[in-house]
Amino acid sequence: MQTITLTRPDDWHLHLRDGAMLRAVLPESARHFARAIIMPNLVPPVVTLADAVAYRGRIMDALPEGMVFEPLMTLYLTEGTDPADVARAHASGLVKAVKLYPAGATTNSQSGVRDLARVMPVLEKMAEIGMPLCTHGEVTDPQVDIFDREAVFIDTVLDPLRRRLPALRVVMEHITTEEGVAYAVEGGDRLAATITTHHLILNRNHILAGGIRPHYYCLPVAKREKHRLALRRAATSGNPRYFLGTDSAPHVDALKEHACGCAGCFTATNTLSLLAHVFEQEAALDRLEGFAAQNGPAFYGLPVNGGKVRLEKRPDPCVWPKGIVTENGPVTVFDPGFPVYWHVAT
Ligand code: DOR
Ligand code: ZN
Repeated sequence: MQTITLTRPDDWHLHLRDGAMLRAVLPESARHFARAIIMPNLVPPVVTLADAVAYRGRIMDALPEGMVFEPLMTLYLTEGTDPADVARAHASGLVKAVKLYPAGATTNSQSGVRDLARVMPVLEKMAEIGMPLCTHGEVTDPQVDIFDREAVFIDTVLDPLRRRLPALRVVMEHITTEEGVAYAVEGGDRLAATITTHHLILNRNHILAGGIRPHYYCLPVAKREKHRLALRRAATSGNPRYFLGTDSAPHVDALKEHACGCAGCFTATNTLSLLAHVFEQEAALDRLEGFAAQNGPAFYGLPVNGGKVRLEKRPDPCVWPKGIVTENGPVTVFDPGFPVYWHVAT
């Protein structure tokens, strides 16, 4: 039997939600991951240091006995964000990044940024103190085709911002295009990109051909096959500028299978097995540890984890529950559409 042992990985982009949903999904991540960057797009959002401290407390309270997990908190950037609060959050050590949601770009982004000029004092402070900015990199202009929104964001928002504030450290979250792959390596150690598990597996045909598949709908939406292939090359390249951020984003089935379905793929349960499958297909199993456990901490200036996880390639395919149970209804677990033989053994 083939086995691989990895440093315990981290998830550099995760949605845990709150309340009953938090209690249901947290064990799915904590089972395999030591730490995660926790997205702040709650309703209302996690805007201040005090919000982040309170949310962190709720996450720790929801962690089942015996599980070890460290939430790395983020602040949701609004046009009212106070630079001094961001500086205090950075100094506290509990908050690792500030998240930019262009208003209207995605789930719970209504409180996000409409005019970047209004948050410039915050961004200047972040550049000064070394607080990273995590970007949801899509423009919201309805004139721009949804499949072009990432590339247009890079050209019209991100690149001008980085020219204006070269010291600002930026994580391009969940890149989905070859343009994103190319741009992410242009900024040396001040720029990096996360890649999700599902964007290594899906192209837009998976969502739309032969019937609409709401559980494959997420934002940024999966693109053409050539972009998926560029993401696979990037993730498996060994380049430290790319690392795992699953963007595992639970929504109850009733809101996914809906006339106006929510965006998000719930991959926390099976991400590690799926990644082993993808990296093996790319003849890069030896680079999985870098992608999932080393490159992220290097960018964020954190130590790599002490523990290990072992994966075993067994003759029988993995069997995951179709969904997980929450008090609000079931949440479908991401179905890759092919059998996967890499089982997480520990
Ligand atoms: O698919 C997504 N789901 N993309 C996002 O940007 C947000 C996330 C969510 O919170 O559901
Ligand atoms: Zn997300």
